[in-house]
Amino acid sequence: MKNENLPNTLIAPSVLAADFRNLETEITRVVRAGADWIHLDVMDGHFVPNISFGPMIVNFIDKITGIYLDAHLMIDNPGDYLEEFKKAGADSITLHAEVDGVIPDLLKRIRELGMDVGISINPETPVEALDPAYELVDLILIMSVHPGFGGQPFIEDSLNKVRHAAKRIEETGRDILIQIDGGIGVENAFRVRQAGARVLVAGSSIFGQSDPGEALRKVRRAADGAVPKGSL
Ligand code: DX5
Ligand code: ZN
Repeated sequence: MKNENLPNTLIAPSVLAADFRNLETEITRVVRAGADWIHLDVMDGHFVPNISFGPMIVNFIDKITGIYLDAHLMIDNPGDYLEEFKKAGADSITLHAEVDGVIPDLLKRIRELGMDVGISINPETPVEALDPAYELVDLILIMSVHPGFGGQPFIEDSLNKVRHAAKRIEETGRDILIQIDGGIGVENAFRVRQAGARVLVAGSSIFGQSDPGEALRKVRRAADGAVPKGSL
């Protein structure tokens, strides 16, 4: 991932909120509206109480669009599936720090497989849990809702974690993007961007709207209000 070539704010619509009866149309609409990534929430009913979809759906989406696919694995045994997600077309895989063996082993394996590497923490997990991961990742994902379901309210304390991670990243001098996921929309896009989150995941505030393309553009405009173009 060459961060200097990326836009001010990256918008990653989460397909969890899409209408799966019309997945191709839904995805095509947000891609045309300028989505930067598609965010894929994989859930196993163990790590989180919900079950969503796996590599097969990821592969269908990869056939619809060449866009960067960002896979967020909320599963208990991610090590068993890394190759499969790679084969399915994932460009990055983000794993949870709460799962045993993720830091450092599984993060290293994602890198060896040739994908971008992400690490995530749940709202209950202290931001210091990320400390041993900074040297291994391209992306830090701060969960701003309890993982498992879309449509929940944004947890304000996540902003402190974003600020903390941003400071640590600056100290390390590494090229790491901060992503925020859960409860993001026009009303808080400015604040999260200002705190240092550059990749905004949005499910209900994009796919849940009658015009997802226009909704995406609104979230981007709101976020970019925080950072004037060219200042990065
Ligand atoms: C929650 C997922 C999120 C979710 C966000 O476990 O990781 O990506 O889809 O949905 P909204 O934007 O509706 O909070
Ligand atoms: Zn997610």
